[in-house]
Amino acid sequence: MNTIAENARQQFAENFSGTPRLFFSPGRINLIGEHVDYNDGFVMPAAINKGVYYALAPNGTTTLNFIAMDFQERASFDLKDVAGSEGWKNYVLSVVNEFLLLKKNIGGFDCVFSGDIPRGSGMSSSAAVEGGLAYGINEMFNLGLDRVTLALLCQRAEHNFPNVKCGIMDQFANMMGKNGHVILLDCQSIKHQYFPLKLDGYKIVLINTNVHHSLASGEYNIRRQRCEEGMSILKKRLSIHSFRELKESDVRDARDEMSEKVFNCCLFVVQEIERTQKAAILLQSNDVQAFGKLMFEAHEGLSKLYEVSCKELDHLVEMATKFDAVIGARMMGGGFGGCTINLVKNEGIESFVNAVTLDYQQKFHIIPEAYIVETGDGTHELS
Ligand code: GLA
Repeated sequence: MNTIAENARQQFAENFSGTPRLFFSPGRINLIGEHVDYNDGFVMPAAINKGVYYALAPNGTTTLNFIAMDFQERASFDLKDVAGSEGWKNYVLSVVNEFLLLKKNIGGFDCVFSGDIPRGSGMSSSAAVEGGLAYGINEMFNLGLDRVTLALLCQRAEHNFPNVKCGIMDQFANMMGKNGHVILLDCQSIKHQYFPLKLDGYKIVLINTNVHHSLASGEYNIRRQRCEEGMSILKKRLSIHSFRELKESDVRDARDEMSEKVFNCCLFVVQEIERTQKAAILLQSNDVQAFGKLMFEAHEGLSKLYEVSCKELDHLVEMATKFDAVIGARMMGGGFGGCTINLVKNEGIESFVNAVTLDYQQKFHIIPEAYIVETGDGTHELS
């Protein structure tokens, strides 16, 4: 048994009675397709072997008792008082709230959770927190909701109390991930395909800037608004329903009708949707070199047009371009900090990581962290 799960079980035994059920809920990576999930685009995430572990049991009352081990905090609420809160409480309560909004018959429960996703790393610890609890509640109270319904429920939960108007990528990868595979998700139809992640001779390496600029969630919603504003202008000009029906030239033709920021966001979205479709073909034909080039291009767009990067991320990507062994690199996730995702030749990983660590430390006086990614399955119960 994984030690985090074991510790959660032990904490549970020390604080509550009964035998808990244990669940694992993964974080995610995203190979390509950033900030397009809420713009009807395509994304290419995978669940990873890092995540959040839950120990859960119904307690026969109407009280919800939580112990958040990594925050060394505990909190209790009555089911009838579930409301917006702050920090981790906002996420777990928002999940419970979604079940209540669906009028699902749930009771009180005891809950201990802990994880190994570095906070603010862009590996979506929030979706892991949401998904593990939603899955656990569904199991404990035999609600019979399927995984996609649970992913959508978790997305609504993130919109609601935390007020982050996220797309569906993170929650989908969390529920639907499959070991050894990436998911190509069509965010318009919510249809998906799995591809085996075979990167002959290469590995995916994440470098964590260990910074997370606090503007992130507000800026996220602002990007979403810019895209909505742009879309409404484009819809007036053309008979279209979504960004995927557009060509770059359609956006360029409407330049005079938009602010520069709105124009740049729309241009990025159209380019990124196209890039992700190309990338999916390249990955299936094992052309990792060409795939890597698209990652660099995506970073350029995220940084210059969509403006969701930061100097630490830009520096790490810039460093990556200097290593022959690194064939692709870009920021990953919402941005403003967190990780870069790098496609690195096996034999070059060590020297790349060592050099980047030293350089980054000298420049920013922060120690970055590197992880070699291993994919994993979506949220599940541990035996
Ligand atoms: C966050 C959101 C996702 C997605 C990414 C950017 O992780 O939760 O829905 O928009 O940012 O691609």
